Amino acid sequence: MPETLLYEGKAKRVFATDDEAVLLHRYKDDATAYNAQKRGSWKDKGRTNATMSAAMFTYLEANGVPSHFVEQVDETTIKTKKLTMLPVEVVVRNLAAGSLSRLLGFEEGRRLKAPIVELCYKNDALGDPLLNWHHFRELGVSDEDLEFCEELGLRVNGILAPFFDERGVTLVDFKIEVGRDADGQLMLADEISPDTCRFWDKETGERLDKDRFRRDLGGMEEAYAEMLRRVTGRPSAI
Ligand code: C5P
Repeated sequence: MPETLLYEGKAKRVFATDDEAVLLHRYKDDATAYNAQKRGSWKDKGRTNATMSAAMFTYLEANGVPSHFVEQVDETTIKTKKLTMLPVEVVVRNLAAGSLSRLLGFEEGRRLKAPIVELCYKNDALGDPLLNWHHFRELGVSDEDLEFCEELGLRVNGILAPFFDERGVTLVDFKIEVGRDADGQLMLADEISPDTCRFWDKETGERLDKDRFRRDLGGMEEAYAEMLRRVTGRPSAI
């Protein structure tokens, strides 16, 4: 099947095929952090992100949350529906960490009274800033779409937090994205992986996610492999 490169990002390449309704997301072993100021790469990162995303989208679908996911094509590639993306990054948090700790002066690990949803503007040049609804209206994103984003974020959290808890992992926070299909239906998109979630081992507090890279903790390959094992019970889901 002929493939046309549509987009090359930090951690993946997206291809169009002769089926106009779908895209191929090929995950790379490369990573960047702090808006591409820090770069790195580790073995099997792409495989983990593709395989874990496939497993999580399948689990969410089984729990009533439709997404762009169609199938896993090979170890590092997933096939998705082609969507028109909202310029929104939906972050959901259960414990304070990262930018929320900085925003509110909270110690990392403080449990929040209730999950907090944040809507950020997907814009690399601006560093994906946290916006309010007034800003999004100005950008042409409707209140209805923002409401969908917030509700979807909380629903996904309600399904994934217990899923990871049963596997000995605290879901500290995560980021998802939302897009609209050809029928106008909004749905979950992007990926669900240690690149886009904070995962802490419930017993030891060990970081099992991209913070190992962001914070120079080392052990990225082992942490990603451990998350894949906890989710799929084996090194690969296919
Ligand atoms: O950095 P911050 O604390 O705002 O990140 C919150 C969550 O969103 C983390 O799980 C992080 O991995 C994810 N995130 C992301 N992509 C971004 C910003 C944050 O996946 N551009």
